Amino acid sequence: MMYSNCTNVILIVKIYEGIKLIDLIDVSTITTFVIPYPDSSPLKHHPMSDKKKLTTASGNPYYYHEDTQSVGPRGPLLLQDYILHEKMAHFNRERIPERVVHAKGSGAFGTFTVTHDISRYTRAKIFNKVGKQTKVLLRFSTVGGEKGSADTERDPRGFALKFYTEDGNWDLVGNNTPIFFIKDPKKFSDFIHTQKRDPYTNCKSPTMMWDFWSLNPESLHQVMFLMSDRGTPYGYRYMNGYGSHTFSFINKDNERYWVKFHFKSAQGIRNFGNEEASKMRGIDPDFSQRDLVEAIDRGEFPKWNLKIQIMTEEQAQVHPFNPFDLTKIWPHKDFPLIDVGVLELNENPKNYFASIEQAAFAPAHVIDGISYSPDKMLQGRILSYPDAHRHRLGGNYEQIPVNRCPFAVNNYERDGYMRVDENGGDNPNYYPNSFDNIKPDESYRQPDWELESNVAGWFNRNAEGENDHYTQPGNFYRRVLTATDKRNLVATIAGAMSGISGEKKEEITNRQLCHFFRADIGLGMAIAKALGVDIDAVMPVLPKEHAVIEK
Ligand code: HEM
Repeated sequence: MMYSNCTNVILIVKIYEGIKLIDLIDVSTITTFVIPYPDSSPLKHHPMSDKKKLTTASGNPYYYHEDTQSVGPRGPLLLQDYILHEKMAHFNRERIPERVVHAKGSGAFGTFTVTHDISRYTRAKIFNKVGKQTKVLLRFSTVGGEKGSADTERDPRGFALKFYTEDGNWDLVGNNTPIFFIKDPKKFSDFIHTQKRDPYTNCKSPTMMWDFWSLNPESLHQVMFLMSDRGTPYGYRYMNGYGSHTFSFINKDNERYWVKFHFKSAQGIRNFGNEEASKMRGIDPDFSQRDLVEAIDRGEFPKWNLKIQIMTEEQAQVHPFNPFDLTKIWPHKDFPLIDVGVLELNENPKNYFASIEQAAFAPAHVIDGISYSPDKMLQGRILSYPDAHRHRLGGNYEQIPVNRCPFAVNNYERDGYMRVDENGGDNPNYYPNSFDNIKPDESYRQPDWELESNVAGWFNRNAEGENDHYTQPGNFYRRVLTATDKRNLVATIAGAMSGISGEKKEEITNRQLCHFFRADIGLGMAIAKALGVDIDAVMPVLPKEHAVIEK
């Protein structure tokens, strides 16, 4: 069956046992049949007065674009039609490996403007003057799905920023959540495997997910965030962004402060409910991409207010939680938000592949005045991202225009695949040398960093004093969520956990239920009830370490 859409009637042509049957249907009588196919901006028209010649990749003008050279009109093709080879060969290489995580994403360029003076905390030049503007690129993403997956999947959202500063590019590669699932980078690949496809069924598996989460209670805080309606934001404009990790600021007196970055959506927070998000997956899998590109085209430039939390080195030593633990937040009452500036997205990339697919963000890319911290996850990510970029885009990925620092790049890195700049020309390719004028600048010296211990070891990340996985998730449930949020959270968790299957179903379900109980008894009871689990019957058979202390 096929149909064509005219103004007010639909012409339906059915081929039935070789006979063509034609139906004319009055559209006004159809209520559920026609689902409009969303379409964003049309291709732009270029006037023929600017006529250009069609050429090969080497600039050779040619005429025969559609027909391949053949022996007679019905004969075989000739191997010498090089244009056929070039077109097919280039097409075969159009795809690059998708990002191993955060494969589906959208992005835009914009401006960051400083509105408040924070120079007592940092000497970073990007912040050195109220009113100063810096060009940025922001790429949003979902995490677990492939490049073609739906934008409204329940998932954290990536919030990756590249600030093109005069001291080089600063990448702040965050999420829409202030916390994360795990504390040690060694667990990352195992965790991500549970979010991707089961090796046998090649389907997503709630059993894998809940098995991993229940065996890693440090994930509870982020799991509750994910299962709340914030796990399905209404596109990318109505959600916050967070640097998530603790970073450091260094000021002009070489003093160090610990810092967390928060980007608060000026549009407000808006989420899809579970059902709406599921429907939208079918109606428009590119909902967030379309929403962003269309808003910017309309001149509705989305904005975020950058705020920071600051902790001194002395405060860090006495803070009740490890301030470098990515599964924890810093309470706002103790570390209030400080205003810094405004981020605005105001320019859609002209070409998605060039500027967004080829964009490479790395937490390793910090600038003078902003640095790392002992957060183990941040330390792991310093290694991981540039390695991923070398695999995905090649060793010279920093030369791709969207990644290239627009100010100065002077060093002795040379050659390699896809070297597309002048490769240092005829200048020396070694340092030190007696010829060129490149010199390390002393003003970029960093202060030494006194560490707490000189013992190297494989320390248990969840040892005594680091194993409270429940207080903050409990506070999130009790203090942050509204009554409706709580109801939705329980329904979403119960729905997701009901997908656990197989011989370990009960064990995994009960183990995870214990974590919810420990965070909040009411939450545990509500989820158990929604799942139809009889708590009184289950409690006596739970292994001791999983039993709930009090009911
Ligand atoms: C040890 C933990 C982690 C590892 C090893 C890791 C690794 C990776 C890798 C390999 C990529 C793909 C990079 C590419 O191909 O360009 C990626 C993307 C990304 N990750 Fe992580 N990740 C970790 C934790 C996190 C955390 C905690 C956050 C947020 C706070 C985060 C946010 C992102 C974002 C936003 C992207 C997409 C960047 C873009 O838009 O290109 N990741 N991660």
